[in-house]
Amino acid sequence: MVSNIGEPEVKSDSRQTSSRIPNFYDMGLEERRARLAEAAGRPLDGLAGPDGLDVSLADSMIENVVGLHSLPLGVATNFVVNGREVLVPMAIEEPSVVAGASYMAKIVRESGGFVAEADPSHMIGQIQVLDLEDLSKAQEALLQAESQLLEAADRAGPMMVAVGGGARAIEVKTFTESPIGPMLVFYLIYDTVDAMGANSVNTVLESIAPLIEALTGGRAHLRILSNLADRRLARASCTIRPGVLAFGEFTGEAVRDGVVEAWAFAAVDTYRAATHNKGIMNGVDAVVIATGNDWRAVEAGAHAYAARSGAYTSLSRWWVDEQGSLNGELEIPLALGTIGGATGVHPGARDALTLMGVERAQDLAEIVVSVGLAQNLAALRALATEGIQRGHMGLHARQLAIAAGAKGSQIDEVAGAMIEEDNILLERAEELLKL
Ligand code: MEV
Repeated sequence: MVSNIGEPEVKSDSRQTSSRIPNFYDMGLEERRARLAEAAGRPLDGLAGPDGLDVSLADSMIENVVGLHSLPLGVATNFVVNGREVLVPMAIEEPSVVAGASYMAKIVRESGGFVAEADPSHMIGQIQVLDLEDLSKAQEALLQAESQLLEAADRAGPMMVAVGGGARAIEVKTFTESPIGPMLVFYLIYDTVDAMGANSVNTVLESIAPLIEALTGGRAHLRILSNLADRRLARASCTIRPGVLAFGEFTGEAVRDGVVEAWAFAAVDTYRAATHNKGIMNGVDAVVIATGNDWRAVEAGAHAYAARSGAYTSLSRWWVDEQGSLNGELEIPLALGTIGGATGVHPGARDALTLMGVERAQDLAEIVVSVGLAQNLAALRALATEGIQRGHMGLHARQLAIAAGAKGSQIDEVAGAMIEEDNILLERAEELLKL
């Protein structure tokens, strides 16, 4: 896991001065869009438009298209990742996720923000080889032919080689027993640079399968990418002084210790770990979806990685350091692209990348893993203190107050009155505004 490397200096790029936009939450839609355009240096119609995606474009993306399916698209504020201010687009239907990420990012930025890093984009492709008489001999033949196989793979994917990617290494595993008898599995480690890479890897695997058959005398059966992208990990960490965690009746130390206790539950118990990791993926998936990436691939990779020790456990870790600060870290496989696939054609996805100012897949992964860690902290902080329902209700009441037309201090007044009355409805918000 990554270690904290001090407190990075907060710097900003030329387009925006800060991801901190006070009262963004209370602004109307148009005002929020105007603030984003200001931050990005141009209007982001792909994000602001009714659907981002045109139905005729959708018709060219998948089969049997009849329409579009929309999700709310929010922007998390306050993020600082490796010293860079970043506004983060999040597509998600669940309330409190965007607010939770923004709030935790605000707390973490007080200690310099998130420190993150991502591995090179090394994907794993697999070829299943069957009908072998001698597994060890076949394994040896493949390992001996590594350069020949890497060259063949690169001949099959010249475009990837041209942009600096391509075949990097091979590995071979043998299974003397399987439900259908002995099996050999050939692994190709392949650098997909800024692409997610599933298509490139699958193309190359299909091209080199006959060579694998010739070298082993076996039959190449499945030729497919692995979604356990554990050569393409991203890591984020943060350090938080307890003082900034205090709220209401809770001291910072109580919140800090409560978060560590909550994490320990997920570390030992699979049922809790599944929910804990789901909270992390609330943040991860929302950014992955907003950027047009394959969130099922990311989900599959994350959960398989969580079970890598043989027992499914927490993807994150939280502890208290010698200075009494709360430390958190998260490491997950992130197979993300900034080119190719839907990322290349979906206008909303393009504008999402523009808003974050990212071009490289590794930069995107560093932001996504930081959002996952922020989301985990938001959930653990709430669960370890007042419970999650109170915050949900508060946010819901404020949203209804805004929808009813409340402005400025009216928002909290109307929301507070509805919570007090335990009557959180749009009609009640409208009535209260008329009083
Ligand atoms: C809800 O979508 C996510 C949480 O259940 C995560 C968690 O329990 O850590 C709040």
